[in-house]
Amino acid sequence: MTSEDLEVIFSKYPANKKDGLLPIMQEIQETHGYLTTDLLAAVGKYLNIPANKVYGVATFYDQFRFHPRGLFHIRICRGTACHLFGASTYLNEFENQLKVKAGGTSKDRKFSLEISSCMGACESAPVVHINDTFYTKVTETELEKIIRSLKEKTE
Ligand code: FES
Repeated sequence: MTSEDLEVIFSKYPANKKDGLLPIMQEIQETHGYLTTDLLAAVGKYLNIPANKVYGVATFYDQFRFHPRGLFHIRICRGTACHLFGASTYLNEFENQLKVKAGGTSKDRKFSLEISSCMGACESAPVVHINDTFYTKVTETELEKIIRSLKEKTE
């Protein structure tokens, strides 16, 4: 992300106003793909918030990433309904079979895995979102198919 990109984002929000913190971090992530300590420090400087506080806020929210996305970005809903339908087991399957940790990106950058709060489709739990595709009412058999397909696409 260039300093010009950052300036464009900053120009939409008044300096020294804390209200801009979340939307600025969201826009940076949208543009850059993830947040870095340098970018967060620049945000803190612009808004006059200590860098450690900016970092604390960024790490508090699930929505912010600190690693580049993988070729396939997998989001697993762990809202209440999805949790009841086995989302934690599914998360373990993705982690073990694709060698990626929740909140991280695989070493080969093929996969990134994110735990999401409710995606608003509880009646279709459990829900998995991969890049632009939503998978709903995912059964264990379907999960195996999804994982196999991801492996095949990245071989
Ligand atoms: S709990 Fe997963 S979509 Fe609502």
